[in-house]
Amino acid sequence: MPTYKQLLQKYLRFNSLDIELLLAHALRQPRAFLLTHLNEKISLKKYLSLRYYLWQYLRGYSVAAITKHKEFFGLDFYVDKNVLIPRPETELMVEEALKEIKNSSTEITLIDIGVGSGCVPISIGKNSEKRVQIIAVDISGKAITVAKKNSEKNSVTIEFFKSDLLSSVQDYLSKINTRIIFTANLPYLTEKQFKEEPSIRREPKIALVADNNGLALYEKLLRQTKTIFPNKKIILFLEIDPTQSEQIKKIILQLYPSAQIEIKKDLSGLDRLVKIST
Ligand SMILES: C[S@@+](CC[C@H](N)C(=O)[O-])C[C@H]1O[C@@H](n2cnc3c(N)ncnc32)[C@H](O)[C@@H]1O
Repeated sequence: MPTYKQLLQKYLRFNSLDIELLLAHALRQPRAFLLTHLNEKISLKKYLSLRYYLWQYLRGYSVAAITKHKEFFGLDFYVDKNVLIPRPETELMVEEALKEIKNSSTEITLIDIGVGSGCVPISIGKNSEKRVQIIAVDISGKAITVAKKNSEKNSVTIEFFKSDLLSSVQDYLSKINTRIIFTANLPYLTEKQFKEEPSIRREPKIALVADNNGLALYEKLLRQTKTIFPNKKIILFLEIDPTQSEQIKKIILQLYPSAQIEIKKDLSGLDRLVKIST
């Protein structure tokens, strides 16, 4: 049987980090283990596992989908086919929400809409110096099961609700008397973008696509927040596609004419996050 070093050399034509992660997963060891055991020979059973992972990889599954783990904001998240694999660009929303919480002199309730794996509220809860009450919503019961597992694993307390945006939680939310911050990374791609992007075709469509040029769910969410909190000032952070910044500004101003809107750029310099202060 080949050594780990020989295997890494054999698959040099692929992304080397991906192959290291898949080999480490086949060995059921952390990646760092490989570096100190390069001359060890792989067992037949583990070699067959590695071949199976490579077969999935070549069929377009990401390393996170194969290993069922993804690092986000320095934390480890379990992921499966029922949730979107956390994206690095979403860390911007976590950073900005943490800043907002830090600068607030009053108690905060964080409400995350479209929780998926739970990466956003869990990273905020884990890194906030202040105590924050956290509520999270998803239309998918299976996504909530994943998010619950991750919240327990990371010891962050969250109240979960299965709801189409805010429709099943309106009464509950209307009684909250702290300051409220919403975070939402809802589906914002168009059908066309979904069909044309091969890297996402293995992910749940319900997590990615929305009508009205991708903005239907954000518009509906803003209509709901306006109805539930007619006189309360709230903060919303919405992740967008860089092409949507002008159109989303128009939607926001139609519903909240005096809102303050800030568009924040991701690490690639692209418009990625809208901050709305009503
Ligand atoms: C783009 S994924 C984001 C997941 C997670 N917030 C993240 O950043 O990785 C969108 C999530 O919104 C959920 N979703 C889609 N439509 C929804 C709706 N109408 N109400 C609540 N959640 C919804 C999907 O099930 C999915 O988990």
